[in-house]
Amino acid sequence: MGQSIGALGLHKGRDNSMKIVHENPFNGIIALPSFPVVFVTVGSNIMVAAAFHFYSFKPPSVMVGVKPEKYTYELITSSKEFVINIPTKEQLDKIHICGTISGRDKDKYQKASLTPRKANKIESYLIEECPVNLECQVVHQIDYAGSHKWFIGEIREVHIDENYIRDDALMFWLGQFRTVGEVIEGASNDKLLKK
Ligand SMILES: Cc1cc2nc3c(=O)[nH]c(=O)nc-3n(C[C@H](O)[C@H](O)[C@H](O)COP(=O)(O)O)c2cc1C
Repeated sequence: MGQSIGALGLHKGRDNSMKIVHENPFNGIIALPSFPVVFVTVGSNIMVAAAFHFYSFKPPSVMVGVKPEKYTYELITSSKEFVINIPTKEQLDKIHICGTISGRDKDKYQKASLTPRKANKIESYLIEECPVNLECQVVHQIDYAGSHKWFIGEIREVHIDENYIRDDALMFWLGQFRTVGEVIEGASNDKLLKK
């Protein structure tokens, strides 16, 4: 039929273009847009995660997906806490280091020349050089079958650099790093920060 691998058929999509129906469910994952990439710190270890998302406004919570074979999974499961550290795009070299070696063998703060600073509300360390740090307590762990296990963390304390520019945040998916992109609608929401 000359269609792409796993294609089941065609139908009309938006603007009369053809929509290909895929048999392989992984193509749905490939079609997803990029996700924020963050450093997850727990104890005195650092790992990189793109499986990261907002979870709830009230209470303010986020979630992170960690593969069970990672040292970080072991550390979060036992300590029930983590810090989300938002990197700058200039820290890409540190992302490559912390996202490829395991803290089981190496001190990644030393390897990546990053400074650990003790968090205020939890026992773990946060990364001083990151403009944003969210201290989180795990309130739920999702061990449902799948490559990543998810931890939901309630935010206990927030550190934000006064010069932080949210639109400079780094995004990642399937081997590609990028920044957020253009604003299509809506004003700047820097003024939403609460007392
Ligand atoms: C850009 C990028 C994104 C990553 N995203 C994830 C992720 O979401 N979940 C995960 O378990 N590992 C992810 N990894 C891999 C871990 O960061 C990596 O395996 C790390 O070495 C684990 O460290 P640890 O063994 O000290 O926990 C990512 C790596 C990179 C470079």
